[in-house]
Amino acid sequence: MNDAKVQIGVNKLGHHVQSSQNRLLIKGGKVVNDDGIQEADVYVEGGVIKQVGTGLLTPGGVRVIDAAGMLIMPGGIDPHTHMQMPFMGTHSADDFYTGTRAALAGGTTMIIDFVACPRGDSLMDWYNKYRAWADEKVCCDYGLHVIVPQWGDKTANEMATLVKEKGINSFKCFMAYRNVFLLEDDEMLNVFQACRKLGAVAQVHAENGKIIERKAEQLVADGIRGPEGHSYSRPEAMEIEATTRALAIADEANCPLYVVHVMSAEAGEAISKARRRGQVCYGEPIAAGLACDNSSYQHTCWRHAAGHVLSPPLRDPSTKERLWRMLATGELTCTGTDHCVFKADQKALGKDDFRRIPNGVNGVEDRMSVLWEKGVETGILDPCQFVAATSTNAAKVFNLYPQKGRIAVGSDADIVVWNAKETRTISAKTHHQNVDFNIFEGMVCHGIAEFVISGGRLVVDERQLKVTQGAGRFVPMPAFPPYVYNRLEKREAAKSAGTVAVARDAYDGPVIDLKAEQERQKAVAKEQPGAAGGGGGPEAAAENVFHRPPTRGGGRHMQESSFSLSGAQFDDTKPARSGIRTHQPPGGASSGSLW
Ligand code: URP
Ligand code: ZN
Ligand code: ZN
Repeated sequence: MNDAKVQIGVNKLGHHVQSSQNRLLIKGGKVVNDDGIQEADVYVEGGVIKQVGTGLLTPGGVRVIDAAGMLIMPGGIDPHTHMQMPFMGTHSADDFYTGTRAALAGGTTMIIDFVACPRGDSLMDWYNKYRAWADEKVCCDYGLHVIVPQWGDKTANEMATLVKEKGINSFKCFMAYRNVFLLEDDEMLNVFQACRKLGAVAQVHAENGKIIERKAEQLVADGIRGPEGHSYSRPEAMEIEATTRALAIADEANCPLYVVHVMSAEAGEAISKARRRGQVCYGEPIAAGLACDNSSYQHTCWRHAAGHVLSPPLRDPSTKERLWRMLATGELTCTGTDHCVFKADQKALGKDDFRRIPNGVNGVEDRMSVLWEKGVETGILDPCQFVAATSTNAAKVFNLYPQKGRIAVGSDADIVVWNAKETRTISAKTHHQNVDFNIFEGMVCHGIAEFVISGGRLVVDERQLKVTQGAGRFVPMPAFPPYVYNRLEKREAAKSAGTVAVARDAYDGPVIDLKAEQERQKAVAKEQPGAAGGGGGPEAAAENVFHRPPTRGGGRHMQESSFSLSGAQFDDTKPARSGIRTHQPPGGASSGSLW
């Protein structure tokens, strides 16, 4: 284990609290890691796993947890949440207390949230603001990604400080939400290049925001104002296009790319294809996209339909299955939730115009159960793959592994004891998320977090939630995650090996004098019949805008085709000209003129 990582974070609970709770022996269960299952007991002390095996020798005063018939797995890591996020004129309703409490209730022991810095503001100011909000409230460990809403020297410097001094190793670019977060392609290239230099992972919200905006305007003009308009205005093609574009830009920058909330199967396939080409990139489907579909936008209850509004939106019912298959084959890597909840009165900001419905849905409490039910109970994933998709892979990508995402000696004691034999029914009436709606309402799920241990503290004890506000720690995520960068660096070297200047003699022939050529063309235009004061009317002047006169087929330049389905030529309507000059083809005699 990386020493730097073991030391990070300070357990904020006093020693008296720690000593009475910090010796736990989990007995009789099966330990599940991403690479295997073993029957073993787990002994926890001082917030870390001290022993894994059978017949363990432990000190007295230990709390024994009976895990017979249950699975002992790494607690979930949700790499995509938005707690108390200022967004669309309001704040998401779960703050760092209620949100992390809900996470723990569902077996997730770490979240990675996003510092949502709006365009024009300082990344560092917003990072500090988020740290202050979160540190006093979090019940479980957390990390932060930082949204980059603009490019410039200040941004570059702040990114460097955040990586070198503040525990940030990932930055997110938005291709949607104009004037708030949206970045242009060249800005995104700059951010990606900066990430590469700093050893960070670039993330992207991939949707063509500008086209979506136009489409939404048209829908409203056509009288479509309900939540279905949200879905119509954000067609899958806009996600596929943006994903493909982001992948190309990241490849150009030799930067690892993590595509958040992959909602479209074809967007997932674009990521998969890039991976097969060798690109270092990752896709993250979310619980909503793996379990719900766009039929909800047609619901006649406005609240129900608006409750499902998120971006990119839910897709047609066949999408889920395709996303699941890609998760099972490893083409998609992590699962998140994009947990960003708004209550009914907040969603109602868009009651007359879908463009104002705050975007976001729940999931931080539900993800583990929903994934178990839809993934493991259906035979798509085995329990090891479940662990990979819910914690280990995120820990690897964001350089938390094996401190997080593994049951092993030395790892943090973030553990869920999972009862896969029993079921529960998800409902807004019983969930802990601070919202009056649940997109998974009524779903019966196998898999219950019977016991949850967070940083060595027993926070769910026989299904009873016992959290402490502020007990979680900020977990710095170091730069250059080996899981990401080891391969990237080799690949980059191999790529640049093919980009070498060709050794050749310098060209020593004549170079066209463009100014003289322009003068010459002007003189020719004047001489032509019909020109004011000597030749060439407005039409002739317009034709001289082209540096290249028509080719024999009539095309004006190489990109313009003279071919037409009707057989017509581009200048059929013009009177035939008698005096068309002949021009030298490429490689022909050099007369100093352009061909
Ligand atoms: O609809 C969503 N996804 N809301 C949260 C902000 C974002 O785009 O991730
Ligand atoms: Zn997003
Ligand atoms: Zn998000």
